[in-house]
Amino acid sequence: MAFTPQFLDELRTRINVSDVVSKRVKLIRKGHEHSGLCPFHKEKTPSFTVNDDKGFYHCFGCGAHGSAIDFLMNSEGLSFPESVERLAGDAGMEVPVDSPEERQRAKQRQTLYDVMEAAAAAYEKFLRMPEGRVGLEYLRDRGLSDATIAKFRLGFAPDGRGVIKAALKREGISEELMIEGGLLIQPEAYQDAGNDRQGPVVPEGRESARQSYDRFRGRVIFPITDKRGRVIAFGGRILDKDSKMAKYLNSPETPLFHKGSVLYGMHHALGAARKQETVIVTEGYMDVIALSHAGFENAVAPLGTALTEDQIGELWRVVREPVLCFDGDAAGARAATKAAIRALPLLNPGYALRFASLPDGEDPDSLIASSGRQAMTDVIARAEPLSEVLWRMETGGRVPKTPEQRASVQKALEDHARSISDSTVRAHFSRDFKDRLWAGSRAAGGGSGKRGGGRALAPVSSVGAGAGAAVKIDAHALREHILLATLVGHPGLYDKVGERLGTLSFSALGLDNLRQEVLKTLAGEVGLDTDGLKRHLKKSDYTDILDQISGPRVFEHAFFAKPTADIEIAEEGWEETFALYKNTDLQDEIQEEQKRLSNDMRDDVYDNLRTLKEQEREALEGRADPELRDVS
Ligand code: UTP
Ligand code: MN
Repeated sequence: MAFTPQFLDELRTRINVSDVVSKRVKLIRKGHEHSGLCPFHKEKTPSFTVNDDKGFYHCFGCGAHGSAIDFLMNSEGLSFPESVERLAGDAGMEVPVDSPEERQRAKQRQTLYDVMEAAAAAYEKFLRMPEGRVGLEYLRDRGLSDATIAKFRLGFAPDGRGVIKAALKREGISEELMIEGGLLIQPEAYQDAGNDRQGPVVPEGRESARQSYDRFRGRVIFPITDKRGRVIAFGGRILDKDSKMAKYLNSPETPLFHKGSVLYGMHHALGAARKQETVIVTEGYMDVIALSHAGFENAVAPLGTALTEDQIGELWRVVREPVLCFDGDAAGARAATKAAIRALPLLNPGYALRFASLPDGEDPDSLIASSGRQAMTDVIARAEPLSEVLWRMETGGRVPKTPEQRASVQKALEDHARSISDSTVRAHFSRDFKDRLWAGSRAAGGGSGKRGGGRALAPVSSVGAGAGAAVKIDAHALREHILLATLVGHPGLYDKVGERLGTLSFSALGLDNLRQEVLKTLAGEVGLDTDGLKRHLKKSDYTDILDQISGPRVFEHAFFAKPTADIEIAEEGWEETFALYKNTDLQDEIQEEQKRLSNDMRDDVYDNLRTLKEQEREALEGRADPELRDVS
């Protein structure tokens, strides 16, 4: 089958190679490039890169190279036309068909979509007919305008067992397809009739019970669409609040509808979400609609279940930091922690979740109705990071006061951190939790420290988006102070860390001189304690710089540096700081090499990059695995 060059060009501009690749390969974005583990050969460190600007992927390990179309052909074994069709479908493009057989095939695939579309149109029509009047009044009572009703294509399913069935039959749609699309329910007895069980469950004379019948009866209808706006399922809400029936009824799983991977409202939200770089995730259909009505066009909702991994991934394809919005009650808090725990293993540098919580008993719909748009804006603005949600879950919002409480909280938080697969993100979470615990222990000890000091570290340890260059440099310098201060506070660590500290070169001259002096002194005099060391350094005129590294700024971020801290804790803190320090250094170098590489794909540049990446991994894993620590 032939595609015109224009069509293929258009297709290439509409799709991101990284979107296609990321369905199979976990990619990490760095500048203009993404990288990950190559799916075409076995490897442990990423040598597979994707460049959306150039429209291709390239593996420096095995040489695999190509476009999005090639990727599908090579990774899924699709033919060229099949790959093109798949991509065109994802991009919302009509594939030009040029043979009768092709046309027939495309039509069959299209059929179920057509059925759902016909049903959506029929439900919309019913809403405007006399039998739909109750539905229309219900929606208007809930404050929806005709424009909003039309935008979300809300409809009504009249109360009868064969209404949609008859309407679609008139359009020539088969009962079989209506069942496949979930519009009709096929009673079990009918299916059982043919096999050799005891016989049909249908009582004599009740043959009509075998007939398929309308799933949605006497309900307001919410069409559920895919990202492209094609109707794939429905939700239906009862009108009578005293009814014993389920409030909402949803389509079953069908070939078009997989509940766990769809987000209601995504089709409408996509543009606004990308533009504003936020997407608001709420709990219900009506929340999405009320938010849109109030001008928040970037809202979506899962379909009555906790967020799945698929849905979290889908959200991250749209923005880097979706805001999850939960009710302010206990159930809302539970849903928030569930989502937080589920997201941990999936976190990648630069991707995060924020958690907004509503006043007790409100959902976005009711909040906007009672307190207006601004109240909702405030809720979103107060959204908290994931680490805060976990902290609150483990501490119940109270700062642990006794060492025993702190130990138990620390253990629980460390377990959470350990479930993060990405080593960089893991290191930062672990650091953040320790900072919080330390802030708590200082406060408990009656010190003057407030949590505010710990907060200042947030941009330092936060990952990816938002951490500006100035903050990064600041963090880097701070880590140099911490590395040195920890050794000064615990000269006993010299054997473990001296050699590695010796390989570094600090950015500020004064500090670097102090580094060398400390190492020289400790190498020369075994068993020197902190006071002895300090006396020596002061004699050699290092007083000012020494005061700097023993100042509150350092201790605020690194309680373990204090001579009073336990030496094991100090060692752990030093290792972690070292890993993060080496990592920022490496990150800069890696970025530099990657830039060179995108201009000039040379093998030696690539080899360099690989070595750096290897080091990055070792630095972080060496920290995570105590057995490896002493090897370097
Ligand atoms: P809510 O009860 O919070 O929905 O359930 P809502 O949107 O605020 O409903 P209104 O305002 O009373 O109309 C949240 C979501 O859970 C699913 C639906 O997807 C709903 O939007 N749900 C709820 C069901 O699937 N079945 C139910 O019986 C109830
Ligand atoms: Mn509601």
